[in-house]
Amino acid sequence: MDEHPPGIESNREVIGRIFTTVAEAAPDIRAGLVGRRDAVAEENPSGETQKAADVYADEMLCERLGSLSGVGSYASEERSDPVDTGSGVNVCVDPLDGSSNLEPNATMGTIVAVYEDSLPASGESIIAAAYVLYGPITTMMAAEDDTTHEYRIDSSGVGHLMNEAVSIPDDPTVYGFGGRVPDWPTAFHSFVDTIESDNSMKLRYGGAMIGDVNQIMTYGGIFGYPALNSAPDGKLRAEFEAYPVGYIVESAGGASSDGSQSLLTIDITELHERTPVYVGNKSLVQKLQAAVAHW
Ligand code: F6P
Ligand code: MG
Repeated sequence: MDEHPPGIESNREVIGRIFTTVAEAAPDIRAGLVGRRDAVAEENPSGETQKAADVYADEMLCERLGSLSGVGSYASEERSDPVDTGSGVNVCVDPLDGSSNLEPNATMGTIVAVYEDSLPASGESIIAAAYVLYGPITTMMAAEDDTTHEYRIDSSGVGHLMNEAVSIPDDPTVYGFGGRVPDWPTAFHSFVDTIESDNSMKLRYGGAMIGDVNQIMTYGGIFGYPALNSAPDGKLRAEFEAYPVGYIVESAGGASSDGSQSLLTIDITELHERTPVYVGNKSLVQKLQAAVAHW
């Protein structure tokens, strides 16, 4: 637990400030989307086209999170290297997850992960994670101490507890998988066939991980952005997407995997490294692992 000498504040207090700051930024990020839906000239370090809103959200979060005491560095999907912001925990952010949904005006999110170790940190050093979902209302799923709570964020950026100790429903009903179907490895394709032949399961895929993961948190099921034949490491990034979402889902009683082990136990060496991602009910993630174990 969070033992600390007198006078040195606990990680819990710093995490509280980080979560509060992300919640306060959410209405401002949302308001800033208007007029920032076009691409800018730059690509992010993963080679994706940046939208003006990606850059806006990144700069806002870097300034606000970086100025908090107890935050030692800020890294994001939108910048190559971490920014040194003092001493303390290390914060990784996907400022606008699913920003390709800006054009069709569909769901997006913001993801934040807090690591004790310096960056790039492994999943085992994550101590808290949260995501904001910009849906019909703004909500935030926040996990620490292996517990996940869901909040509604009001227009002033204040969080109101909606669901205490969120638990993924036992009887899963939805699934969503990214990547082009012809690019799916055969073993994964066979697994999806078994999911689709189950009459209780239906497809929900929206193209923004946070929107799709929140469907799983709400209804139970499985989300994946798999290893592809053309991209064996998949699309999603460990530090900014896989570790925090894996931590949030596991803290709600679900499971996460890269195809063979929990996302939280995979090792990375590069800040922007990618990994296949599968999250959802334990039973489904176990089935997935059994199906793809011998690639
Ligand atoms: O951050 C990457 C991301 O936008 C995720 O939010 C989402 O799950 C995925 O890419 C969507 O990719 P695709 O456009 O290939 O479905
Ligand atoms: Mg993303």
